[in-house]
Amino acid sequence: MRYSLLLFTSLVSAVSITDIQGPAFQSPYLDQVVHNVTGIVSAKDRYGFWLLGEPSSDARVSNGIRVYAPQYAGRTALGDLVTLSGLVSEYRQPARPNDLLLTELVSPSHFAIHSSGNPITPLVISRDTKYAPPLGKASALDKGSEGWLSVPNNATQLESVNATLQPDKYGLDFWESLEGRLVTVPDPTTSNFPDMFGAIWVYGDWDVNGKNERGGLTLTSIDGLPDAHPEVILIGRPLDGTRLPRVPIGSQLSNITGVVTYQFGYYQILPLTAPTVLSEPVPDIPPVSFYSSDKSCELTIGDYNVENMSPRSRHVPLVAKHIVEYLHTPDILFLQEIQSDSGSRDNGVVTANKTLSTLVQAISSAAAQLGASGAPFVYDFVNIPPQNNMDGGKPGSNIRVAYLWNPNKVSLLPGHVVGSATQNTEVVQSEKGEVNLNHNPGRIQPNHEAWEETRKPMAAAWQTTDGSRFFTVNVHLSSKRFGSSPHGDARPPVNGRVERRTQQVNITADFVKNILQKDVNASVIVAGDMNDFTQTRSVFRSFTDVLTDINDASGVDPVERYTYVYEQHMQEIDHMFVSDAIVRRGTQVEHIHVNTWARSTSSSDRASDHDPTVAKVWVCDKPSEVGSKSPPYLVVQEANYMH
Ligand SMILES: *[C@@H]1O[C@H](CO)[C@@H](O)[C@H](O)[C@H]1NC(C)=O
Ligand SMILES: *[C@@H]1O[C@H](CO)[C@@H](O)[C@H](O)[C@H]1NC(C)=O
Ligand SMILES: *[C@@H]1O[C@H](CO)[C@@H](O)[C@H](O)[C@H]1NC(C)=O
Ligand SMILES: *[C@@H]1O[C@H](CO)[C@@H](O)[C@H](O)[C@H]1NC(C)=O
Ligand SMILES: *[C@@H]1O[C@H](CO)[C@@H](O)[C@H](O)[C@H]1NC(C)=O
Ligand SMILES: *[C@@H]1O[C@H](CO)[C@@H](O)[C@H](O)[C@H]1NC(C)=O
Ligand SMILES: *[C@@H]1O[C@H](CO)[C@@H](O)[C@H](O)[C@H]1NC(C)=O
Repeated sequence: MRYSLLLFTSLVSAVSITDIQGPAFQSPYLDQVVHNVTGIVSAKDRYGFWLLGEPSSDARVSNGIRVYAPQYAGRTALGDLVTLSGLVSEYRQPARPNDLLLTELVSPSHFAIHSSGNPITPLVISRDTKYAPPLGKASALDKGSEGWLSVPNNATQLESVNATLQPDKYGLDFWESLEGRLVTVPDPTTSNFPDMFGAIWVYGDWDVNGKNERGGLTLTSIDGLPDAHPEVILIGRPLDGTRLPRVPIGSQLSNITGVVTYQFGYYQILPLTAPTVLSEPVPDIPPVSFYSSDKSCELTIGDYNVENMSPRSRHVPLVAKHIVEYLHTPDILFLQEIQSDSGSRDNGVVTANKTLSTLVQAISSAAAQLGASGAPFVYDFVNIPPQNNMDGGKPGSNIRVAYLWNPNKVSLLPGHVVGSATQNTEVVQSEKGEVNLNHNPGRIQPNHEAWEETRKPMAAAWQTTDGSRFFTVNVHLSSKRFGSSPHGDARPPVNGRVERRTQQVNITADFVKNILQKDVNASVIVAGDMNDFTQTRSVFRSFTDVLTDINDASGVDPVERYTYVYEQHMQEIDHMFVSDAIVRRGTQVEHIHVNTWARSTSSSDRASDHDPTVAKVWVCDKPSEVGSKSPPYLVVQEANYMH
């Protein structure tokens, strides 16, 4: 601080801001009236202001504080040196019991302005100072072998423990140690789209972990523990009423100076004013690097959560364009979130033939537009309509999983009988030893309580054009609904419905194990929206017992494994797991960032909240048929992927 220490030391009976903040999460002066609190107004809004007092040499202790004082807010200006008395309060909105507490001075009195125009020096958060966020961990209370993703969730509550801060080790402690302080984030980079309130997650010019090619931060492991990304901070609404820019992930902004606070479930910085945009990443999004081939055993497999698609969805043409130009029309597509033919009208309609044929038609048009020669490219499709409103999602929409496939490359095994919503498909074996499914495609244990109010997985048995068989399971596991904030009181945070997903993976894995017990060399592909990260190892353990994550099989750089962005992480919640026979023959996989690299979240730029994935696998041994027939299927050689 550049202002005179005399201003503070002359007030003998005063309580300092650092005394009030103290070294723990909660104030030692809770519910006490403190007098002669002195500081410089460093920021203000309609309801009060933030004071900056003399700093402490103790890095755990903040010298900033929020003063709730609507009656004085209009009378103060930035740079005023003021004194007041007030009640020390630890505040959270009553309706938000999982929020952390914000130390505030309320019911101010004896308010006086001593001088104006004093300089205000923000603390620069930087790797060059001791004030830089730690990497990896959010809280010492996130005990367990999976850090902040450990089960059981909510084993302790942060505010009841009220630990002494360890800002050099834990992210929540770090941001708490700056609570109420004016800080500068130098050279911020955006790591998510603006949220529904326009707030954006950024990191500054300090050490980060998991940085991907785009400039976002991918959820990876750090020292064997899932990364909580404490080095990413939410930027809230600017205090002067300006608006934060709406820019894509990986954009560079001008320095942000603002106060550190906690609201709506997160630590956030409220900027004095909005930053400007210095640069945005290039708009080009690379398509998958490979194509479907004329080798019968070699298949391209796409997986795409197409977000609540109905026949009337405006995003049908954009999804079709993605499938043709960016995914290169994979031989089989695993889709999730196909709505019934009447969309989300709650009228009892459960069939989705119209939805699927609308998409198939749009794909044919997109392929024709690209100038594909020969016969039109037409996918076949299959789905199993759920019982009305029994599979969760928006009422009436009856979302389900579906397969599209190129009939010139693969087909369901001959004589197949499609299962119903409630029929359980079983793995059966003929006298000749051939493995099959009695309902094909069929749902896996659809009546098991683990699938209550959620989408059921759909298994299928297929053959290639030369008669080699293989198996797939298309899944859409329960969402993280009812989860709690990663910056919340519950430690570890509540990973919504984690027990459900664990059980769902187990049931699916047992089904796959059944196939592999009958044929250890079976080619099996399980893919879909699994709504969790592989770093939540407890959820995926049953899969990893019998299958391999195709990213591991293909050697994909961990920081480039993401299909989604949420809060401070780019993250992979859509996965593909494959059996040993497939791993042995060699695999390739690419996550295609048509939606996380979009210019904005508006429906004209972005078709879904998920990115699709495309893999290349061999479902039978490589030799023989290479270069046989002329390719009857579409091979898009030149994708014009600029929007
Ligand atoms: C504030 O400080 C002044 C000057 O030291 C002192 O006279 C006064 O009693 C203090 N006020 C309170 C309410 O403690
Ligand atoms: C929180 O911890 C601080 C520092 O140890 C202590 O002074 C304060 O009384 C504690 N508050 C509560 C509510 O436990
Ligand atoms: C965590 O557990 C506490 C104590 O049982 C409970 O009061 C609180 O509501 C739980 N928090 C969440 C987010 O579930
Ligand atoms: C951003 O902040 C850093 C650290 O204070 C400073 O070195 C740099 O000059 C600032 N940049 C601009 C454009 O003000
Ligand atoms: C839906 O399409 C499939 C495949 O084309 C067809 O077999 C089935 O009869 C159709 N169902 C309805 C209700 O039209
Ligand atoms: C499975 O495949 C491996 C590798 O090709 C082969 O060595 C093994 O004999 C096969 N096992 C069976 C039971 O067919
Ligand atoms: C599923 O869970 C059961 C019970 O815990 C366990 O015995 C079984 O091995 C699990 N299945 C797989 C494939 O891991």
